Amino acid sequence: MGLGADMYRQQILDHYKNPRNYGELEDADIEHVGENPMCGDTIKMFVKLADDGVTIEYVSFVGDGCAISQASASMLSKELQGRSLESVEAMDRDDIVEMLGVELSPMRIKCAVLAEKVVQDAIAIHNGEIEIDETTTE
Ligand code: FES
Repeated sequence: MGLGADMYRQQILDHYKNPRNYGELEDADIEHVGENPMCGDTIKMFVKLADDGVTIEYVSFVGDGCAISQASASMLSKELQGRSLESVEAMDRDDIVEMLGVELSPMRIKCAVLAEKVVQDAIAIHNGEIEIDETTTE
């Protein structure tokens, strides 16, 4: 075992109470919103790209929801900076579970992956791969 589960829970709570990179981004290259229809919790992600058009320079978010969904968005906003759009598209729920560091029930997994799904759909829309107005966890 590495860090204790308590420590991860503390970290989640800290990100929930003091979200990093919180706020709308005026000059975002990509922005997209998503909702967990089970509870109505929402997250909107904003991505600013570097000059090469494929590297993430900065990520911010706004949202309203449970501790797991909002902490996950906050942690993800830090994680994604400097990464390529391609590598972000390749992320899966295991990456998010690892990032959060806690075991989650299927119900809570939906909270955890909302931000990731929003960003991935945002990138897919940006790349012209899909056309949707809003992401859902379904
Ligand atoms: Fe709504 Fe977690 S309870 S996203």
